[in-house]
Amino acid sequence: MTLNSLTGDTVNSAARVVRGIDELRAALAPARREGQTIGLVPTMGFLHEGHVSLLRAARADCDLVVMSLFVNPTQFGPNEDLDRYPRDEERDLRLASEAGTDIIFAPDVAELYPDGAATAVEVTGGLTSVLDGDPERRGPAHFRGVTTIVAKLFNIVGPDVAYFGQKDAQQAAVIKRMVRDLDFPVRVEVMPIVREEDGLAMSSRNVYLEPADRIRAVALSRALAAAEQQALALDSLQAGLDAARIELAAAAIEPEYLEARDAETLEPVEGLTGRPILIAVAARVGGARLIDNVVIEPLGD
Ligand code: PAJ
Repeated sequence: MTLNSLTGDTVNSAARVVRGIDELRAALAPARREGQTIGLVPTMGFLHEGHVSLLRAARADCDLVVMSLFVNPTQFGPNEDLDRYPRDEERDLRLASEAGTDIIFAPDVAELYPDGAATAVEVTGGLTSVLDGDPERRGPAHFRGVTTIVAKLFNIVGPDVAYFGQKDAQQAAVIKRMVRDLDFPVRVEVMPIVREEDGLAMSSRNVYLEPADRIRAVALSRALAAAEQQALALDSLQAGLDAARIELAAAAIEPEYLEARDAETLEPVEGLTGRPILIAVAARVGGARLIDNVVIEPLGD
């Protein structure tokens, strides 16, 4: 971002694209020396308004905004969509620049995983073995891939603040735990889910939806809204989950999971506990595996 010398307005100049770790460290060194704050937004590209909301938050908070653009192979399972994951780097560069990004770190796989790479960062236990981490679903190896790449990005960029989306609630909880357990000197900000007008949570994977499935997919957000509304109205988590199941069934969607858990620890909960409760859903709709969630905040007294 630069300042227009005539008007004093900020104008968005094109972000600088950096491919190498050394080049990135060199690019960040002057800012760091001057005590500027660095914000990091990790992404796998194919940007949408959800990503852009993170970039805008970073732009508002930090002196220098770095976005990483890297489709991380270690977080994809053997039967997942690594090869067909959507990519459009040119468009990503434009959208990121328009959102005020200063530097885009877009390395290739060999830069981040050189031959012989043998080290991983793993958050163990209940956070990574439930919901998407259930071995029947994506499994804990998915989150090991995520925490390994995010730890590497933290080490490469050295951000003061890193921005993640609540869309991936479990990922955000896992990253917060990693930061706490390994004493990363970074503040983690989790931003609200950005939705399409009809409620569908934005996702790069929504491009996999055929038109008819795109319509059915709205049932996920509708189910979560019903869950929250019924749980609070009837003071019953079970009533909320039942209402959500009805909405999904009406769209002929059989969820992989629809579960209520403590929003921070992801431990199972029986009823409304007085702590924030995450209701998370995952379902295959046509060619896309979709996830969405809502957090029921405890009613103030
Ligand atoms: P990706 O799916 O590209 O998402 C990048 C960031 O955007 C994540 O923090 C995600 O939660 C956030 N995001 C995605 N959709 C959103 C929405 N509708 N509203 C708000 N935020 C949204 O998540 C990843 O990449 C990767 O796992 C990554 C963290 C980059 C590690 O490889």
